[in-house]
Amino acid sequence: KSYNVAVVGATGAVGNEMIRVLEDRNFPVKELTLLASERSLGVEIDFHGKAIPVKVLDENSFAGIDIGLFSAGGSVSERYAPVAAAAGCVAIDNTSAFRMTPEIPLIVPEVNPEAIAQYRNKGIIANPNCSTIQMVVALKPIHDAARIRRIVVSTYQAVSGTGKKAITELAEQTRALMSCQEIQVKVYPHQIAFNCLPHIDVFLDNGYTKEEMKMVNETKKIFNDPSIAVTATTVRVPVFYGHSESVNIETEKKITAEEVKKLLAAAPGVKLVDNPKENSYPLAIYAAGQDDTFVGRIREDESIPNGINMWVVADNIRKGAATNAVQIAEVLIRDYL
Ligand code: A2P
Repeated sequence: KSYNVAVVGATGAVGNEMIRVLEDRNFPVKELTLLASERSLGVEIDFHGKAIPVKVLDENSFAGIDIGLFSAGGSVSERYAPVAAAAGCVAIDNTSAFRMTPEIPLIVPEVNPEAIAQYRNKGIIANPNCSTIQMVVALKPIHDAARIRRIVVSTYQAVSGTGKKAITELAEQTRALMSCQEIQVKVYPHQIAFNCLPHIDVFLDNGYTKEEMKMVNETKKIFNDPSIAVTATTVRVPVFYGHSESVNIETEKKITAEEVKKLLAAAPGVKLVDNPKENSYPLAIYAAGQDDTFVGRIREDESIPNGINMWVVADNIRKGAATNAVQIAEVLIRDYL
């Protein structure tokens, strides 16, 4: 069986990768519909060697579509995901628009695939934040084995998470600074080249950024465990692709670094890269373009009885967005459609 699939935001950084992932994973696509704004009229994108014209998204875009992959910003999803659902299309939404809506499932297939059944409530499935996805993929086997009580995470996030304009901005600022020219600061409030910005998404009244609170709230929802304490500091760094994270956890049961390594070596979607003597640990440059979550630098936290430190890296556009969305679609067609 094959399905009519639409990609909403097909010309964007994530939308484009969604098309590549559908291709790479040989998703059974009957017809692919590419949707974006009127700015993209005339643009064509290749799919399995065929040029597909981008259409303008409107109220009638979803007739006959089985699955819609949305990544055109929160306001587009808020308006059009319900339109798609009303037309009988299951919307898999990469934006933050519906992630914390109780009736809408928030899915990482390695962690809580069973919750996909709740798609029937609204016809919408939410794809979590990129930083949350890679963290919960790495933590799931440890949570199952030793129950995680508290997570302290600091992120080192690539600019591609902000979209195409940010990728261009990092490249142009780097080029300008290397040739002693004036730089332009447009996408971020400060220079991103050769800098680190402890500021992702907007600041909230509690002093945290929205990105930080996404990691806190989404983790509890995905693990279906509001008692897990999570605190986050999210930082934008001058990297194009691949988010890195320093993750510190405290568990209820003692678990050794060796046990964690064993669990992660066998965990779905995880690649253990942890051989410090050979200078081997996860790196953004090697995670880029891959679908796995890479984990290394696994150590017992010697400052508390039951603690573990680790370094977690994944391609934010692939596993952090496009791949996770397509994996959700794979479970959906396998078990439900
Ligand atoms: P377009 O290229 O036509 O502007 P990114 O996150 O890389 O900036 O990409 C955002 C994606 O969302 C693009 O594909 C963009 O299309 C699409 N998009 C943004 N606003 C709208 C809108 N109002 N209607 C349809 N697509 C939109």
